[in-house]
Parts: sequence; C-alpha cells; structure tokens
Amino acid sequence: MTYLVDDNCIKCKYTDCVSVCPVDCFYEGENFLAINPDECIDCGVCEPECPAGAIKADSDFNETELAYWMKVNTDMSAKWPNITTQRDPLPDADANNREMNADVPDKREHLSEEPGAGD
Ligand code: SF4
Ligand code: F3S
Repeated sequence: MTYLVDDNCIKCKYTDCVSVCPVDCFYEGENFLAINPDECIDCGVCEPECPAGAIKADSDFNETELAYWMKVNTDMSAKWPNITTQRDPLPDADANNREMNADVPDKREHLSEEPGAGD
C-alpha cells in the first residue's frame, strides 16, 4: 500500500505535502512531485494537504490508472532529488489547479521528466 501523486500536481507543485510527510518520501521534478512507493508508510496525512487534490491512496485508482501512476511515481522518485521543505508553488499554479478551474484538462502530457532543485 502506498499513496501516489497524479496529474493534478503537474504545473502546480504547491509542496504543502512535503512538510507533513513523516518519512520524507517526496522527490522533486521540474513541474511535479513523486512519492517513492517503497518508502511511503501509507499514513495518509499528505492527502488532505494538497490544494490540487493530487494525492490519492493506491486503492482509489482504477487498475489502468494505478499501473500508470505507480510507474511514474516509482521511476521519477528514483531519479529526482528528495524535497522536504515547502516552497512557493509554480507561478501559474492556481490557473492550472483543477480544484479551482474545472476547464483544465488532464495534464499528464505536460509532465516533465527533468529534475527539480530538491533540498
Ligand atoms: Fe508520506 Fe504518509 Fe503521504 Fe506516504 S502517505 S507520502 S508516508 S505523508
Ligand atoms: Fe503537488 Fe499537491 Fe504536493 S500539487 S507538490 S502533490 S501539495
């Protein structure tokens, strides 16, 4: 069992999630954060912290989506730097937040595999 980040994080990256994780298992990309599924202890405290609704338990994905996001979180967390300190969101975070703007389509095509700065 693990929690996973989905496309709602892309182009938002609010980073509220990182400051509450007791095992520091978030990893930073250019426009997305990934959870390392092997390190996540399934505590669930990060889920309500995300203003974009981007964090879900693996049991909340359907089979196809679970396979996709498990691979993204696993692969990206292995190559990106760890992030434990909250920072400013990306400049257009609110405009790209589906919780605030229902017109924003699925964002997975915009996922950058480039690393973020980490801390
Ligand atoms: Fe960290 Fe808990 Fe969220 Fe897993 S569920 S990423 S351990 S805060
Ligand atoms: Fe992304 Fe939400 Fe964390 S937008 S950086 S998963 S607070």
